[in-house]
Amino acid sequence: MSSEPNTLSVRPEAPRDYHAIHTLVTAAFGRESEAKLVRLLRADADAYVPELALVAEEGGEIIGHVMLTNATLHGDEDWRVLALGPLSVTPGRQRKGAGIALTEAALELADARGDRLVVLLGHPAYYPRFGFEPARGRGIEPPSEEMPDAAFMVKVLSKYEERYQGRFEYAPAFGQV
Ligand SMILES: CC(C)(COP(=O)(O)OP(=O)(O)OC[C@H]1O[C@@H](n2cnc3c(N)ncnc32)[C@H](O)[C@@H]1OP(=O)(O)O)[C@@H](O)C(=O)NCCC(=O)NCCS
Repeated sequence: MSSEPNTLSVRPEAPRDYHAIHTLVTAAFGRESEAKLVRLLRADADAYVPELALVAEEGGEIIGHVMLTNATLHGDEDWRVLALGPLSVTPGRQRKGAGIALTEAALELADARGDRLVVLLGHPAYYPRFGFEPARGRGIEPPSEEMPDAAFMVKVLSKYEERYQGRFEYAPAFGQV
């Protein structure tokens, strides 16, 4: 981490960042739904993992944000797993590595915490670079059959075991936007 101007640094979000995060998430997606989702996830104590909600800062400005939140995998048991998203980088600052830096940092922190796996619905061309692969190939079913198989992806972490198979369920906030 560095405080040099124009050097990208990644750190956990703090309440003073919430307004800037709302603005940047809205701008990144061109609508407010994902920014609302961020707020709802933060308000859900079962879902929110403060140390896995990160901002990317450049020259003192917040230009990116990512969240990993608690989710459930319903199989032989109910396992606590993680969901990634939303991931947002301010338009104008995209394609300069901020999304990669945020995602890598979040995944490293999750792995260090001993989390099992991370699931997301995202662009099949973007996420394989981090080790994401189609979730169905690991026996993980999407919460809705409408989700395209190629976009419903999982990254297994160090603590992953093959028995972690079943139906994935997001935190309720994902169904409220
Ligand atoms: C998608 C997003 C988070 C990527 O972050 P970023 O900082 O712009 O991207 P990075 O600089 O970290 O990564 C650049 C790489 O990602 C690729 N990339 C960027 N956006 C992409 C997209 N939407 N789909 C596929 N690949 C994408 C670039 O081609 C580049 O790959 P390359 O180096 O192999 O050419 C950002 O563009 C964004 O906020 N988009 C709008 C919101 C969104 O779609 N979020 C993700 C939902 S799944």
